[in-house]
Amino acid sequence: MATLPNSLCLSPASDLIVKSPLFKSSSVGCFFPICSRSSVHLRCSSTGVEFNRNGFSGLSSRSSRGKIFASSAQIMDQSAIKTDSSAPTIVEVDLGDRSYPIYIGSGLLDQPEILQRHVHGKRVLIVTNDTVAPLYLDKVTEALTIGNPNVSVESVVLPDGEKYKDMDTLMKVFDKAIESRLDRRCTFVALGGGVIGDMCGYAAASFLRGVNFIQIPTTVMAQVDSSVGGKTGINHRLGKNLIGAFYQPQCVVVDTDTLNTLPDRELASGFAEVIKYGLIRDAEFFEWQEKNMPSLMARDPAALAYAIKRSCENKAEVVSLDEKESGLRATLNLGHTFGHAIETGFGYGQWLHGEAVAVGTVMAVNMSYRLGWIDDTIVSRVLAILKQAKLPTAPPESMTVEMFKSIMAVDKKVADGLLRLILLKGPLGNCVFTGDYDRKALDETLRSFCKS
Ligand SMILES: NC(=O)c1ccc[n+]([C@@H]2O[C@H](COP(=O)([O-])OP(=O)(O)OC[C@H]3O[C@@H](n4cnc5c(N)ncnc54)[C@H](O)[C@@H]3O)[C@@H](O)[C@H]2O)c1
Ligand SMILES: [Zn+2]
Repeated sequence: MATLPNSLCLSPASDLIVKSPLFKSSSVGCFFPICSRSSVHLRCSSTGVEFNRNGFSGLSSRSSRGKIFASSAQIMDQSAIKTDSSAPTIVEVDLGDRSYPIYIGSGLLDQPEILQRHVHGKRVLIVTNDTVAPLYLDKVTEALTIGNPNVSVESVVLPDGEKYKDMDTLMKVFDKAIESRLDRRCTFVALGGGVIGDMCGYAAASFLRGVNFIQIPTTVMAQVDSSVGGKTGINHRLGKNLIGAFYQPQCVVVDTDTLNTLPDRELASGFAEVIKYGLIRDAEFFEWQEKNMPSLMARDPAALAYAIKRSCENKAEVVSLDEKESGLRATLNLGHTFGHAIETGFGYGQWLHGEAVAVGTVMAVNMSYRLGWIDDTIVSRVLAILKQAKLPTAPPESMTVEMFKSIMAVDKKVADGLLRLILLKGPLGNCVFTGDYDRKALDETLRSFCKS
């Protein structure tokens, strides 16, 4: 039987330790803060921490609802916007003085006021790629400058692809910013999918030790997930997203019309993250998806807008409660530990992120079932919805048990040599983030999905 690398120790008896800025204890961390800004509850972690849409959910009581720090509302004052486009929905990410709005709607790039109100200096650098630039760079440049002659816009067009999410390509952003003599009052604008958003955000976090930035996500993946929450960064050849920073944008502008040009495969890839929100914390949303996946796949504008809004609300709530990933935010990584192993092992860019996450989700759900934590109806519902979304449900044949284990050993969720996983537990919409599981279940899961 294959053995785990030295750095990875999976002990059924080990405790999950989550350090929270809200609860400082000198003892070995066995308790978790269950925070609602007005109160802090503690619960022993010996069986892991359980979560659902209400935040942290105790094993015995579901009444300690965390306060929800995200809200959505229609913009009321549209007088400054001189177009016929409809008013956006706004989901607020509540992070104190770093709070920001997510604008969601059709035709938002034709409403210059939305972008312009978030540009404070006179210089803007748009970071995009050679696929998105021909489609939307002119439009965004116009939206930033129309009626605003004091603002000058530069752009840097990066090569397209996950394999360019690296230090060499990032340096092109700094080259352009320095050659253009941008100063601390400038604003970086990320125009593209998750790769561009993550890279531009990291560039903004580090250029002159931090400049403003705005996210204009143009894929489902970026609109429902990566543009929200301030995780920015690049890949290392040994692992995905290993170099980066938490850095929040000034705003996120989701113009749903940009999805009209998105290839089908990329559309489906984004749905893997939408499905994730339902599984980890929003059963009602999962049930809605089961009924509406055909409409989503057919790009029905109302269905897409609803799925994006509901996903952003879920992400905003989680980020507001746990910005720096002390515990709850890690649950957004359901399926990602297995998925990242596929992305890394199979070569960046071969499989789309959402495709790898879809398979990772199947593996996490399979393992949860092996542990006896969920019933088989959840397993079959997950397979059915992923198939409806035309997403893969098994890893590439070249992935071996050894490859999974060695790549998973450098996952960011390894703490003190212990691999913690997000697994489903209980009724639909509940999950745990824990290193306290029978390692045999992990071995069996890997063996059942790999030929060797
Ligand atoms: N920061 C986070 O919290 C977070 C969360 C999830 C994913 N991610 C990261 O996001 C990345 C994946 O994002 P992605 O799926 O958007 O991939 P991507 O950025 O590579 O975009 C997918 C493809 O679609 C093209 N494209 C983008 N918008 C388009 C449009 N409107 N029309 C036509 N083509 C368009 C892109 O050029 C690219 O070829 C990964 O690197 C992943 O690690 C980050
Ligand atoms: Zn993801």
